[in-house]
Amino acid sequence: MSTKLEKYKTADTSKITTWFKAAPVSALPENGGACIKYKDLQIAIYNFSRRNEWYACQNLCPHKMQMALSRGMIGSQGDEPKVACPFHKKTFSLKSGKNLNGDTCDIATYPIKVEDGYVYVGFEN
Ligand code: FES
Repeated sequence: MSTKLEKYKTADTSKITTWFKAAPVSALPENGGACIKYKDLQIAIYNFSRRNEWYACQNLCPHKMQMALSRGMIGSQGDEPKVACPFHKKTFSLKSGKNLNGDTCDIATYPIKVEDGYVYVGFEN
């Protein structure tokens, strides 16, 4: 396992079978998100440069089923990196996917890494 993978690993990578080449780092705004497509999934990816970290999660907000999380505001709650949906500000941990408001569903998060100027998202199939 490379040093770069260790640096950017944000979730369990033991079951990953596919590292999807998502985008060049230069295409991702600092401290912001973007949406990519993998098969029929929309995935939000975040360049959380203030924390020198990257995150990936489902783009679908489970509150009112809006494809919106990639446009959410990222921040920290204590040590926990989080995203707030732009619609009604429900917040989710970018590490665990847990709904930090505690009143809606959790979301899926995905492993992410940066190698040779590209962002990769890990999937189990
Ligand atoms: S649709 Fe995301 S918080 Fe309501």
